[in-house]
Amino acid sequence: MTQDELKALVGQAALQYVTPGEIVGVGTGSTVNKFIEALATLKDRVPGAVSSSEASTARLKAIGIPVLEANAVESIGVYIDGADEIDGQGHMIKGGGAALTREKIVAAQSRRFVCIADESKLVATLGAFPLPVEVIPMATARVIRQFAAFGGQARVRLKDGVPLVTDNGQHIVDVTGLKISDPLGFESEVNQWPGVVTVGVFAHQKASVCLLGTAEGVRTLSF
Ligand code: 5RP
Repeated sequence: MTQDELKALVGQAALQYVTPGEIVGVGTGSTVNKFIEALATLKDRVPGAVSSSEASTARLKAIGIPVLEANAVESIGVYIDGADEIDGQGHMIKGGGAALTREKIVAAQSRRFVCIADESKLVATLGAFPLPVEVIPMATARVIRQFAAFGGQARVRLKDGVPLVTDNGQHIVDVTGLKISDPLGFESEVNQWPGVVTVGVFAHQKASVCLLGTAEGVRTLSF
């Protein structure tokens, strides 16, 4: 099976976690796009969604699912999202699509986080994928120096030759060279650096379940 087919497989499998009549939290990325396509078949039973990005909002609206403001919803039953890496405890690196801050907000509002990913995303230790960090533009140089002191090489993510601007009007710094053996401690530490909006380690908001697409079918990991 191709990676695209594995993504479609887990996108479809995630439908079993959507409770009819309940608001669903929707992440961002190519795997989530497959989930949104699958969700179209259930749209009459989904009263609305809270979305983690402008891109997912546009896709949800296109299939006729109302998109609600996060502030208008007290609690969400399930949040479905992809990951760039996930370890054996459900800790993740996310933000490859630059939507990490809103993703973490919607995940925090949700009782359950169902991660959908192809098997290439499962790792023993987080850190091989460049870690995305959303940063207020005036702090990027300082944050880059702080990562250097941690042994990481950080640089500002570019789009069309200029710094990418997130849905929140901030920049993304991608950090290589890290081995994140204590995801909870690492997330807590980096999140309190001045200028950091969100670090792309999801340990406090880790997955409850991961639906992993493999050549043998969907493998369910529970954490
Ligand atoms: C976006 C994310 C995505 O969930 C992550 O990058 C995985 O994306 P894909 O499903 O395209 O591999 O965190 O900010």
